[in-house]
Amino acid sequence: MGSEDHPKGVDPRRWRSQLKLFLLIVSTNILTLYIFGAGPFDNNKDNWYSSLQLPSSIGGLFDTQSSLLNATHVRLEATESQLSDLRTHLHTSNTLLDTLLSEIARLRDSLPSSHAQDNSNDDDDDPLFGWGELMPEMKVVVAPHKLPLGYSHAFGTDEIVPPIGHACRLFKSELRQYMSYKVGGECPSDDALAQQLMLKGCEPLPRRRCHPKSPSNYVEPHAFPQSMWTTPPDTSIVWDPYRCKSYGCLIDRKNDPTVHPDCKDCFDLAGREKSRWLGSNRGWRGLDYSIDDVLTLKHGTIRIGLDIGGGSGTFGARMRERNVTVVTTSMNFDGPFNSFIASRGLVPLHLTVAHRLPFFQGTLDIVHSMHVLSNWVPEVMLEQVLYDVYRVLRPGGLFWVDHFFCLGPQLNRTYVPMFVRIGFRQLRWTVGRKADKGPHEVYLSAILEKPMF
Ligand SMILES: *[C@@H]1O[C@H](CO)[C@@H](O)[C@H](O)[C@H]1NC(C)=O
Ligand SMILES: *[C@@H]1O[C@H](CO)[C@@H](O)[C@H](O)[C@H]1NC(C)=O
Ligand SMILES: *[C@@H]1O[C@H](CO)[C@@H](O)[C@H](O)[C@H]1NC(C)=O
Repeated sequence: MGSEDHPKGVDPRRWRSQLKLFLLIVSTNILTLYIFGAGPFDNNKDNWYSSLQLPSSIGGLFDTQSSLLNATHVRLEATESQLSDLRTHLHTSNTLLDTLLSEIARLRDSLPSSHAQDNSNDDDDDPLFGWGELMPEMKVVVAPHKLPLGYSHAFGTDEIVPPIGHACRLFKSELRQYMSYKVGGECPSDDALAQQLMLKGCEPLPRRRCHPKSPSNYVEPHAFPQSMWTTPPDTSIVWDPYRCKSYGCLIDRKNDPTVHPDCKDCFDLAGREKSRWLGSNRGWRGLDYSIDDVLTLKHGTIRIGLDIGGGSGTFGARMRERNVTVVTTSMNFDGPFNSFIASRGLVPLHLTVAHRLPFFQGTLDIVHSMHVLSNWVPEVMLEQVLYDVYRVLRPGGLFWVDHFFCLGPQLNRTYVPMFVRIGFRQLRWTVGRKADKGPHEVYLSAILEKPMF
């Protein structure tokens, strides 16, 4: 095997089988090297002699010894030259393997764009896509699109690739269903499927070229600021995936013991929502901090922020009343949360907790999260979320941890060290019993600050 066997430019089908052969040769060489290289054999002769056990205590055997030594010496020299041959061999194999691997990488990189050019449906044996009849609509959403000349310098790329969650590839049949629609027509009513895909990691979802169904008898929203505290008309949305088919029903579910307790009363704008985060001058005694107290900590420099898992958007509404613009992330579990937030005149973002926050670093004055970031989030993922919060906050920005819940011992053992590790500074910290859960559960409310430097 020499450099004249260099596989550059060979047909991919051929070098696939050649690769197997090369790998076999390389592994055999490594094995040989291991056998010869193991034990007292070493490049260093002195070491080898000194470690060899000779019967030197027996008199009259000196000649035998020395001939034994001579013989062994000869053998050693033979072995060493063999070893050096093997090394050369191995080096050649490694070089070949490197070439092969970079060739594979090059071919893989060139596959998506070359396949985007043809419109045939033979993608099932494509190792990267294999979407079968999903093409060509899948190609529109996954293939790179060329930018006009002149843009590549500023963007650092001459093509733009639509982002879709890598995990989409794991759920072929769901994605097939999601992407089966008439281009230019009405989108299927599949909000539940879409959200399920997102939760499985297919986030962001691929774009579709269709029109979502409009509600019949749509009524335009109320004017601001009335919109913030008025329940929107039922005709403002399509109710397809929900158990409730009206806002009246969503408001009534606060009395339904089968509904998940979190946010079960948050559509009732005349109820508990009305008093949340108000009540100033409580002196930070309870877990319910007031917005005014928190804003006072920063003397009017809190202007823009984010509420993670903000339910029906009330935190954003109260902040807006104080001239602070807050974007509210929410999923649509069991209710049309995003539509509701929007109808109040607030900005909803449909993101799961696994999604990297779509803000540039060092931009936000405040991030708030009530209940949502808690011990149900797998520990490693929670740490990532908290680092992400740290990332998007500006220096001196505030992270309002609102009713974070966990088991008592978890707090000091797991979560306090986590907050410290991430680097937040503690401005306010309140731990209390979680009366509505088991006796060992606690709530934490805290105001953490991203250090100025
Ligand atoms: C060992 O080799 C040395 C020189 O290479 C020689 O002088 C000596 O006679 C040899 N001994 C035996 C026992 O062959
Ligand atoms: C919000 O801004 C408006 C216009 O600048 C101002 O008139 C109003 O007093 C501000 N409200 C609060 C609560 O700061
Ligand atoms: C956590 O540690 C603090 C200070 O060390 C202590 O006062 C507190 O009781 C501990 N909390 C729990 C829930 O164990």
